[in-house]
Amino acid sequence: MALLTWSDTLTLGYPPMDDLHKQFVERLTVVDACANAELPGAWSALIDCTQSLFERENNWMATTHFSSAENHTIQHKVVLNVMREGLAQARSGQDVEVRKMAAELACWFAKHIQSLDAALALHMKSSGLTGDATPTVMH
Ligand SMILES: [Fe+2]
Ligand SMILES: [Fe+2]
Repeated sequence: MALLTWSDTLTLGYPPMDDLHKQFVERLTVVDACANAELPGAWSALIDCTQSLFERENNWMATTHFSSAENHTIQHKVVLNVMREGLAQARSGQDVEVRKMAAELACWFAKHIQSLDAALALHMKSSGLTGDATPTVMH
């Protein structure tokens, strides 16, 4: 059974965020299914995907002045640091530890989506902002 399967419970209804979350689930599934020899590469690809996802969310929070940005951004940073430790473990052949980390990451990810990301998605939808454009000056 996959560590995490894409489902309605993970869908927040803000497509740019949902798409990035889907990519994360796909990368995590590759990690879960790969042979130990492929683990460092698969884990590294998961880190790249996670970094893009977090940077995008952090950027949305910054450009829309989201009130809970600090706590959310810190969570991203902590998780990415732990994942980078996991890459060192994968490269030194500590496969069991990395696979345990992957399972913990799957749990964390689902909870994070349903709490902090859900609040951010709601904020993005209700504000009608894309978070990607340069703020326009009101005349
Ligand atoms: Fe997210
Ligand atoms: Fe997030």
